[in-house]
Amino acid sequence: MEYSPHIITFPDPRAVSLSIRASAVVFADPKSLQLLSLIDRVAPSNANILIIGETGTGKELVARQVHLSSLRAAQPFLAINCGAFSETLFESELFGFEKGAFTGALSAKAGWFEAANGGTLFLDEIGDLPLPMQVKLLRVLQEGEVVRIGARRPAKVDVRVIAATNVDLEKAVAEGRFREDLYYRLKVVSLDLPILRERPKDILPLARHFISKYAERLDIVEPTLAPQAEKALLDYPWPGNIRELENVLHRALLVFHGHQIEANDLHLPTNQPSFAQIGQSAPAPTGEESFTHYLKSLFEEGHEGIFEHIIDHTLNTAYQWEHLNQVRSARLLGISRNVLRTHLKRMELID
Ligand SMILES: Nc1ncnc2c1ncn2[C@@H]1O[C@H](COP(=O)(O)OP(=O)(O)OP(=O)(O)O)[C@@H](O)[C@H]1O
Ligand SMILES: [Mg+2]
Repeated sequence: MEYSPHIITFPDPRAVSLSIRASAVVFADPKSLQLLSLIDRVAPSNANILIIGETGTGKELVARQVHLSSLRAAQPFLAINCGAFSETLFESELFGFEKGAFTGALSAKAGWFEAANGGTLFLDEIGDLPLPMQVKLLRVLQEGEVVRIGARRPAKVDVRVIAATNVDLEKAVAEGRFREDLYYRLKVVSLDLPILRERPKDILPLARHFISKYAERLDIVEPTLAPQAEKALLDYPWPGNIRELENVLHRALLVFHGHQIEANDLHLPTNQPSFAQIGQSAPAPTGEESFTHYLKSLFEEGHEGIFEHIIDHTLNTAYQWEHLNQVRSARLLGISRNVLRTHLKRMELID
């Protein structure tokens, strides 16, 4: 059975306009179409949602999609990463504070909950929320009101919370690191995002979508994908999911010549266990296992210059991971920006 890709565009989820395809959402695989129909069904209600998915599977994008398909679409959508704040900062960020509540509170400030009033608050990496903050969040969800630090009175808020996690929250509950009552409050509806290799029919439509997105951004004529490049994309196991696919195509658009993207423009690690080898139902190997497997396959092949290859691959992956941002890539790798630039020049990734 043939499934036609489903492309939804922002800001109006119902308008299909090619001119703003750069921000479109692609759903083509039957698994993704199922997810889309679930999103459509749950979006109009005010139910809290828990999005569960590995890194790069599109958790934030799905949260935005829910918001845009809801009656709150014209109201704010705010995304907060729960892992990014210290406990004290988190409380003042989320709930706000009154003037003089603490040293440095020179004026009153509304928190994210008040700022998102009427709309949706996306709490990413909810598993990182410290326990004392979990109690406070639960209270807001139960009462529908927040108390700014230093305030005497609560303020009513009408906010839909969508939380996301890439860790097993049930396990965190069992181990006492996540409150069970909060877990059930957040998980009124849960959306499970499959990893990319479990929705293979998304791969090529997504690839074409990213090619047009970056061709438009780089102001170049949109290249096609050579058949061998398509095959390479379909065979690769995509441990970094859609984010990795996007980075691979972004990079390919920077380095290819001519009118077609060839398989070697993709720079996919060649010795990864392929789709077929892994088998769709086999459990995903851990990062360390696949890394060791990859190293062993290099040793077996008597690959020349293994050390350099690993360095190049590591630099390249970090650079793509950080969306070609040199400062962040250097920080991620723990090297100076100058050293990073020297390597990127050698690999002809920058001029
Ligand atoms: N269905 C889709 N259609 C088009 N682009 C997508 C789709 N899903 C994800 N993307 C793109 O892939 C990238 C990763 O998606 P997103 O940031 O939502 O993933 P995530 O699960 O939140 O990742 P992380 O765990 O790393 O935070 C984004 O640039 C997003 O726009
Ligand atoms: Mg995310």
